Amino acid sequence: MNLVQPNIDRYLGRWAASDDPIVAEMEQLASERGFPIVGPQVGRLLLTLARSIDAKRVLELGSGFGYSAWWFATAVGPEGHVILTEGSQDNADLARGFLDRAGLAARVEIRVGDGLEIAREYDGPFDIVFNDIDKHDYPRALPVALERLRPGGLFISDNMLWQGRVLDESAADASTRGVLELTRLLYAASNLDTTILPIRDGVAVSAVRR
Ligand SMILES: C[S@@+](CC[C@H](N)C(=O)[O-])C[C@H]1O[C@@H](n2cnc3c(N)ncnc32)[C@H](O)[C@@H]1O
Repeated sequence: MNLVQPNIDRYLGRWAASDDPIVAEMEQLASERGFPIVGPQVGRLLLTLARSIDAKRVLELGSGFGYSAWWFATAVGPEGHVILTEGSQDNADLARGFLDRAGLAARVEIRVGDGLEIAREYDGPFDIVFNDIDKHDYPRALPVALERLRPGGLFISDNMLWQGRVLDESAADASTRGVLELTRLLYAASNLDTTILPIRDGVAVSAVRR
């Protein structure tokens, strides 16, 4: 399902694009492999949000080969730190290569394994936790994030429209159920202000109340 008219999507994509050649390489690899990176529109949103709260410490759950991490690592600046977590060693190795060549190695830490387990090794506080793991696990990411975010910090979740499958609220598949349950939890949380932005596949931005 196209959530946005293709011509509007291309228009927005042109404005959001980065001129960094490493980003172009990552986008090319994602296109060749059909790998689901967040793409330039969401990437630039992540950078904008990170800079708007002066984020210095970011935790990513589900980093793939480092595309979303490139936007965060760029946003946090030389004093910042981005922890990538990724279940696949191959993806993590690719991320290391791309982020090294982008000159961002000193700002990133790349961990292989279950992001939710790895997160438990870190106390926080984090400015941002970015959630892009397997969708059936989405509800489990919320308490992990909330225990580690500072007041004013952001919990950001990708794919919250799940290609429109969320419209079937009785859907039985585990991924759609995971996205729907996280949505319910986000809006029910008394300490969060949440908005789902219909950019690309839907991005939920949840701010921890101060
Ligand atoms: C949608 S892709 C991530 C894309 C990445 N955020 C980007 O935009 O560049 C999801 C990735 O999360 C990884 N993954 C899924 N569940 C995970 C988990 N529980 N812990 C760590 N990685 C996970 C998958 O191996 C996959 O590479």
